[in-house]
Parts: sequence; C-alpha cells; structure tokens
Amino acid sequence: MSNTIIVGAQWGDEGKGKIIDVLAREADYIIRFQGGNNAGHTVVIGDQEFVLHLIPSGILHPGKVCVIGNGVVVDPQALCDEIESLQKRKITIGSNLKISDQSHLIFPYHKILDQLRETHLGKSKIGTTGRGIGPCYVDKMARCGIRLADLMEDEVFQEKLGDNIHEKNEVFQEVYGHPGFSYEEILESYQGYREKIKLYICDTVRLLNDAIAKKKNLLFEGAQGTLLDVDHGTYPYVTSSSATAGGACAGTGIGPSKIGRVIGVAKAYTTRVGEGPFPTEFDAAQMKRIRQKGNEFGATTGRPRRCGWFDAVLVRHAVLVNGLDEIIITKLDVLDEDQTIKICTSYQYQGKRYDRFPANGKILEECEPIYEEHPGWRQQTCEISSFKDLPINAKKYLRRLETVVGAPIKMVSVGSKREQIFSI
Ligand code: GDP
Ligand code: IMO
Ligand code: MG
Repeated sequence: MSNTIIVGAQWGDEGKGKIIDVLAREADYIIRFQGGNNAGHTVVIGDQEFVLHLIPSGILHPGKVCVIGNGVVVDPQALCDEIESLQKRKITIGSNLKISDQSHLIFPYHKILDQLRETHLGKSKIGTTGRGIGPCYVDKMARCGIRLADLMEDEVFQEKLGDNIHEKNEVFQEVYGHPGFSYEEILESYQGYREKIKLYICDTVRLLNDAIAKKKNLLFEGAQGTLLDVDHGTYPYVTSSSATAGGACAGTGIGPSKIGRVIGVAKAYTTRVGEGPFPTEFDAAQMKRIRQKGNEFGATTGRPRRCGWFDAVLVRHAVLVNGLDEIIITKLDVLDEDQTIKICTSYQYQGKRYDRFPANGKILEECEPIYEEHPGWRQQTCEISSFKDLPINAKKYLRRLETVVGAPIKMVSVGSKREQIFSI
C-alpha cells in the first residue's frame, strides 16, 4: 500500500469511517488532517458500534499509530471525553495516539459564537454542527488562534487567552448581548485538559516525515466531504476547512510528492445534513423510505439527513478537484428494494445544460436535474461478497456510475459491518 488519502466525494457521511477501518489493516499510521469533532465516523465491529469524532478511525486496530494533524481543530473537552469513552470500551489509547502541537484549540467562546451566529442568520443559517469549528478556523486565519504548543507554555497561554477573551467579550456583549466569558474559569479548565492530553502532544510533522523515510504506510482520513470543502464545495453552505485531497498535505506537513493514491468515498445515492442546495433531493415519500432503510441520521448531531438520488455532476467534480484515482461505493444495499433508480447526469437551468459543477449557488438551488433511469435489482445484497455474485442490474448500475463520474470503482460496501465489503 502506498500513502493513500481518503476523502468524501459528496456532502460527508459517505462511510469514510468504515472504509478507513477496513484499509487500516494495511496501514501503519492513520491521520486526520482537517475538521474537528464536527465529524462523526462510524465503525461497526460485530454487534459493537463506535462513532469517532476526533480520533482517527484506525484506533480500533491495535498496533497502529493514530495522528491528529496540524490542520485539525481540537476541542480538548471533546477529546478527553472521546478518549475516556473508548478506554471504557477496552480500546487502548496511549502511545498509539499523537496530536500535533500546531493544531488549534477550540474554546467555549467558539462554540457559543457558532450557535449565536446561526441564530442571528435566521433563515439563511448554514445548519452547522454547533461545535465551534468555523469560529476556531476564523481565529486561525486571523492569526489570533491558540495552538496546543501555546497551551504547553503556561505564561504564553495565559497571555494569549487573556487577549482573546478581552476582545471576544466586547463582541459578545456589544453585538450579541451575551455576558461573555470568565478568563479564570477557562484558564483553569484548560490547565486541567493540558494535564490530561500532554502525553499525546508532539511534533507530528517530523513524526510522519520520519515514518515516510522508514517506508511506513500512511492513510489519511478526510472528514466531511468535497462538497463541504471551503473552496470547492457549495459555498457558503460548507465547513471551514479543506476537506479535499490538497488539505491532507497542508494539514499534516507532508509534501504532495509523497502521496501515492487518492480514493473518494461515495454513497450509491446522496445525503446532506444542514442547509444548502441539493438538486437531487427526494420527494417526501422516497425520503422517508431511504432515510429509514439507510438509517440516515447524523452520527454527530442526530439530525435527520436529507437524501436524494446519486448526483454524478457532484461526484465528477470530486474526481476532478481531488484527482481521484478510484472511488469506493457504499450503501449499495440501501437501494435493494427500489424499482427504478435514478442517476443525475447534468442540470438544466434557464434553457442551458450544465455538465460541470456550477459555482453559482442560484443555479444549484433552482436547476432541474436531468436523470437517467435504471431498473432496480430488487434483491438483497447485504450478504454478497464478490462483484460477480451481484444481481445483473446492480452490476450495470455500478458500471454506469464509473462511466458517468469518470473514475473506476475499487470497492463496494453492502452493509455497515467490517466484512460487508468487496473489491472489484
Ligand atoms: P462517515 O462520516 O463518512 O464516516 O459516515 P457516517 O459514519 O457518518 O455515516 C455512514 C453510516 O452508514 C454509518 O451509520 C455506517 O455504519 C453506515 N454504513 C457504512 N457503509 C454502509 C453500507 O455499505 N451499507 C449500510 N447499510 N450502511 C453503511
Ligand atoms: P463527517 O466527517 C456531514 C456540515 C454541517 C453543516 C456544515 C457546516 O462525519 O462526514 P460545521 O459545524 O462544520 O461548521 O458545519 O457542514 N457537516 C457535516 N455534514 N458530515 C460531516 O462530517 C459534517 N461536518 C460538518 O451539517 O451543513
Ligand atoms: Mg459522519
């Protein structure tokens, strides 16, 4: 296995957690490079379900090193909770977890600001996860963020925290009529987190580059998905980080020449959580059916996911901006009962046809999707373990997806469990 980046090819929740868990067998290091605990990556082993938010999904494999890279934003409270809950379930977390000293910290004021902004936006809200992700990245870009390296130096930390709270409290009080935050309380709680997490903090840039020099295999775990990427997604209805393959280099300090493969994960249909355009969104009846069959409820917030037909315009865009070598299709089994399955191949807007992803949000909001219709297979697929055993119409559907998105399918997943997947 060469160094491989896994990214979501849609709006997140494509099943990346499951795929990382499966591919982690061949990897030595599994690395998160962006986002934070807005992610919810599910891994199902036997009758046990694990939902990872910050810790890479390779953690369930003993002997693998899991790394939280510099591009990730870390909520130390969420991190401590996640470590504790995994340890309670007998998962070893110690020298197998490394966190970049350059990653930025999320503070309570980021979370509250995230929520207040959403309320303030009213009907035009983004539908964020409310985890403080956006405001934390804003501080990073504004160059007033606080990094884990700062947390380790008490004097530096006190000064930076003081400056931030002073400035933030003015905004909270004057713009939002919120009382603001107590410096002493935050200082004390973050000093407490420091003691709990300091053993994991290190120079991960060096760690990972040394691992590459020793010919170790690195697996980069993208969070969110291409259409939630701050540059390439459905802006402004996106997250605040680079969820595409390029983000893996910036978010870890690994040069692009060290990457061997980029794989995109896509569902056999489409989902999104939160607001924003969704050209192929189902009507109410179909929505209810697929949501139920696919258990489409957010792994982080529990919100019902919006569901729709496979949108090849979006996935083609993902193939392009990530340079995808291959794609992995998940949740094929969810379509087992459909009589007719649709693929959107282009959009129609004001008499013009769009084969490529348009930057103009209005087009995405108001376009008419152009569909191909394919006969369903109406047969259970969750126990199938090879491509040749799939029903003929399922094979045709997958082959058609490869053609319309312009990338070969590497694997197909037919259930949430580790073993419900096969290569093609
Ligand atoms: P991620 O954020 O990309 O890791 O995806 P999530 O974990 O948020 O959502 C994917 C959901 O689909 C989880 O509940 C998985 O257990 C489940 N899942 C993954 N692959 C399959 C599959 O092939 N079939 C079915 N039915 N469920 C799957
Ligand atoms: P995983 O890694 C699906 C969505 C939110 C919202 C937008 C911005 O599990 O695929 P944010 O809190 O990031 O500022 O919210 O992005 N979003 C996700 N949707 N899966 C995710 O992660 C998501 N992380 C954020 O719903 O629309
Ligand atoms: Mg998820």
